Amino acid sequence: MELSIPLLLFTFVSLWCSLCTAKGVNGSLPLVIWHGMGDSCCNPLSMGSIKSLIEKHVPGIYVRSLMIGNNIVEDTYNGFLMNANKQIQEVCKKIQTDSKLKNGYNAIGFSQGGQFCQAGIMKLYSITNELEVKMSYKVNLQKLANFVMVMFNNDTMVQPKQTEWFGFYKPGQDKELYTLRQSTLYIEDRLGLRAMDSQGKLHFLSVDGDHLRFTEDWFIEKIINKFMK
Ligand SMILES: *[C@@H]1O[C@H](CO)[C@@H](O)[C@H](O)[C@H]1NC(C)=O
Ligand SMILES: *[C@@H]1O[C@H](CO)[C@@H](O)[C@H](O)[C@H]1NC(C)=O
Repeated sequence: MELSIPLLLFTFVSLWCSLCTAKGVNGSLPLVIWHGMGDSCCNPLSMGSIKSLIEKHVPGIYVRSLMIGNNIVEDTYNGFLMNANKQIQEVCKKIQTDSKLKNGYNAIGFSQGGQFCQAGIMKLYSITNELEVKMSYKVNLQKLANFVMVMFNNDTMVQPKQTEWFGFYKPGQDKELYTLRQSTLYIEDRLGLRAMDSQGKLHFLSVDGDHLRFTEDWFIEKIINKFMK
């Protein structure tokens, strides 16, 4: 079971658009932020401050921090409790109806690999029409400019921390891990991941520290300056 569903989230790009909005004033690509479990889209101590930091350093950028549910409390609870399939449906709807994202965007995920793998996401895979899904994902993946994955080297919250790079345990045990690049999904390029990788669009970053502990300087240097300007 090598499917890394979390990535799929970012492949939903709307094909229809009524109010087409221009890119950010200075031409920077919009950004979608996907928070991890136990967090929320707009927590001033986490995603909220990251959003502000980015907006400060990239004037005019459009940043969408995804909220699952109707408010911050729901968003936080849903990360733990809501059926993963429903979470993804809701997020897809939000991305599809956001016309500012229709011409492509960057996406940054924080530990969501753990969130979704542990939510028993395989259920989604089996109930969805496999072929149809794969084809549309593959096409849409090409609209994603960069996919940046951040692993926290000393993470005590997400186990294993490698899920932050979309690795996971090999089936039937909890010691050996495979990496995204070792997965069938990647090797057979079912979703276009391998193609993205060969175009230099997949980025595996790591930083010393516990879950979501990084300095502002690190974030500015490694993420904002590199990917958002
Ligand atoms: C666009 O970028 C320039 C130079 O980086 C900056 O001075 C200016 O404030 C930006 N424009 C807006 C509207 O943010
Ligand atoms: C954090 O993890 C890195 C890489 O595994 C290790 O080199 C470092 O010593 C760790 N730091 C702490 C404080 O545990």
